[in-house]
Amino acid sequence: VRDTISLHDVSKLNTPEKRWNPYDWYESMLNKQRVYYDEQQDVWSIFRYEDVQYALKEYTLFSNRRKRSVIPVIKKDSRVSMNTVDPPLHRDVRHLVSRAFSPHSLSDWRPRIQRIVDQLISAMHTKAEIDLVQDFAIPLPITIISDLLGAPREDTQTIKKWSDALFLPNVSYQKEQQQKEKLAVMAQFEQYLLPLIKAKRQQPTQDIISDLTTVAYEGDTLTDEEIAQFSISLLAAGNETTTNLITNLFYCLLYDAPSSYETLRCKPSLCSQAIEETLRFRFPITLDREVTEDTTIFGTPMKKGDIILLWISAANHDPLVFPSPHVFDLTRSNSNKHLTFGKGPHFCLGAPLARLEATLALETFLRHVTHIQPLPAYNVQEHIAPDGQNLASLPIMVTWN
Ligand code: HEM
Repeated sequence: VRDTISLHDVSKLNTPEKRWNPYDWYESMLNKQRVYYDEQQDVWSIFRYEDVQYALKEYTLFSNRRKRSVIPVIKKDSRVSMNTVDPPLHRDVRHLVSRAFSPHSLSDWRPRIQRIVDQLISAMHTKAEIDLVQDFAIPLPITIISDLLGAPREDTQTIKKWSDALFLPNVSYQKEQQQKEKLAVMAQFEQYLLPLIKAKRQQPTQDIISDLTTVAYEGDTLTDEEIAQFSISLLAAGNETTTNLITNLFYCLLYDAPSSYETLRCKPSLCSQAIEETLRFRFPITLDREVTEDTTIFGTPMKKGDIILLWISAANHDPLVFPSPHVFDLTRSNSNKHLTFGKGPHFCLGAPLARLEATLALETFLRHVTHIQPLPAYNVQEHIAPDGQNLASLPIMVTWN
């Protein structure tokens, strides 16, 4: 079990509201010394775009095999762990599943995704007030990824519950108890998947699990347990992240740049720009790496085994790359240079899928809803999750077409 690093102890952003709007802190850190060391957590931190990008690409110096991490997920050692290995081994593991996310597969999956978006929209169609998070941003990605993996639709809720439980942040005073609970959830999840995998080996259908039963790896095929691990990691990686993207997109359109929804209604071709700008402007994400040798880097001596935090969202607000960074700007020419999907060998495998989901969600919404408005009594502070990274609810008033 890997030790977890608490980001908030490093940032000292000690309330959910401060974490939801960390822009002043980003600015102060971008202006301070290039590398910041936190004694309590014993980690280095970097913020500047150029430095963060460099660290993401230099995988021989900054390794994904790390003994401590900000990601609060139980790590089970397996031949198919993808995010915790480095090239060249990483390439082989990633190759096993990359076909499922290729442009060809995505174009096959597009109608399946569109159908799920349509179903969710028509379920809301009679309401004047909807909760963008509970009615749309939460069910959409979990239904899509469960469907693409090949799990039956009626199990979506249970899968969501397990995948959330695995991602719960660890708090120091309850760490051991939480880790026990996570191991128990992992075991339940695996027990659920194993018969499903067996069935697909017998009778393959059009989905990722069926694909995984046939791929060759190290002269063999993958075991049922390995396929279960792989499936769990895809569910974990693609779920909450995409929920946050869709929620934050609408939050930006409502609160950060309120005329943008009308702009997009007039010019739907700007949808992908709105999504890229959301990923740049409002997507809290921090990655970590382990230093592989004693070195002097970014002007600072570091030791082999040290952990370094890469504050992606601060880099996305670096004024040297993004002028007036704290403005949500639909006309920004380089929004898609954001580092929210990472960079280098571990660049998010699901990025094309996440982009497609968000695009279809927004385009379909724009076709059906002529106008959106915040609820007058809504106080965002009451709805920010403790980690400050997402909203528990976002009620909005909608005018249907
Ligand atoms: C990796 C972000 C959606 C699957 C990553 C990484 C980031 C990221 C930053 C790189 C991690 C690193 O360098 O250590 C996001 C964001 C998403 C999203 C912001 C949504 C807005 C998805 C989806 C899937 C997915 C929908 C698939 C179902 C993966 C996988 C990796 C990954 C498998 C590991 C790749 C590797 O280590 O080679 N993601 N992700 N992600 N993502 Fe995503």
